[in-house]
Amino acid sequence: MKKIVILISGRGSNMEVLLNAKLNCRVAAVISNRPNVGGLAVAQSHCIPTHVVEHRSHPDRESFDAELAKVIDSYQPDFVVLAGFMRILTDSFVNHYPGRLINIHPSLLPSFTGLHTHARAIKEGVKIHGCTVHFVTPALDHGPIIIQAAVPVMQDDTEATLAARVLREEHRIFPQVLRWLCAGHVELASNGKVINHRRKQPGFALISPALE
Ligand code: GRF
Repeated sequence: MKKIVILISGRGSNMEVLLNAKLNCRVAAVISNRPNVGGLAVAQSHCIPTHVVEHRSHPDRESFDAELAKVIDSYQPDFVVLAGFMRILTDSFVNHYPGRLINIHPSLLPSFTGLHTHARAIKEGVKIHGCTVHFVTPALDHGPIIIQAAVPVMQDDTEATLAARVLREEHRIFPQVLRWLCAGHVELASNGKVINHRRKQPGFALISPALE
């Protein structure tokens, strides 16, 4: 059975969904860069080994990433899953896990890379927003896309209501990706393209606002 290590920085709702999803892989450990975050307690309640590698106690990104990789590699995972992990990783860390590092991002990439995606989507007036799961490459939030979910942006949305609508979809697409990866249905080819042996074509368009 494949093994994964999950990295978090906060409440860990995406991590929790993965722990509850009865995946065809074993979650070997959960690692947080912040102590005392909610996600650590959730992982512990599932009897998953947890670690804290504090970015604050490292002088630079290189030494933090080296320590992080040391802890990750002690579990020899097949995949390393960034589930709300809020640190920018060095190229050498990313290149250490080619085709094995996965991230979930709360926007329809390549729109709204980086932070505050929901507030920026509202400010720009986009009518469709969403979330993306992708392989991580050194270019921040630009790695090959595995799956996306789109949601409408409502006229009276606040950052919080839009975030909640997107998060519901994050919780649907993330377990699907892990199932695909751990069954070998999805992989990153050497040309940088995602191969998905199981892809079903979606059957409809999302038009927002709706047609009359
Ligand atoms: C999610 O929206 C994720 O996409 C983003 O940060 C949030 C983390 O939420 N990177 P949680 O910790 O998984 O609840």
